[in-house]
Amino acid sequence: MTEEMRRINETNQAEHVREAGRSTNLTGEQLFIRSCNTCHPGGSKGFGPTLENMGKDFPTDASLRAFLRKGKGTMPAQTKDTINDAELTELITYLRNMTF
Ligand code: HEC
Repeated sequence: MTEEMRRINETNQAEHVREAGRSTNLTGEQLFIRSCNTCHPGGSKGFGPTLENMGKDFPTDASLRAFLRKGKGTMPAQTKDTINDAELTELITYLRNMTF
């Protein structure tokens, strides 16, 4: 392994450790209550719109994930500092199972 590759590997490993350190291990439901419920109470219309069209507007998990990371207008972007990748997966599972 070249010196450069070794450095790249180390940097990647450090990033994983940092990411794990940021994990609060909240469940999808807890994340929703903490970060989303104020504007989408129980998934219904509040300051933000109802989430009942979410499945139609974001048919794939990848598109929903990208939307949540980016935000839109007054919908705040969810950065890795507040919701890490593993938590975002949990949150998306929770959202996909919401009933309206
Ligand atoms: C400060 C209020 C606010 C918070 C907090 C918030 N949202 Fe939103 N959300 C909005 C607004 C406003 C829109 C509409 C954005 C637009 O289209 O301009 C929106 C749109 C959405 C949409 C798109 C709905 C559709 O069918 O087009 C989804 C999905 C969504 N929010 C999910 C979430 C989730 C999940 C969270 C928590 C991580 C969250 N929101 C947190 C205000 C908020």
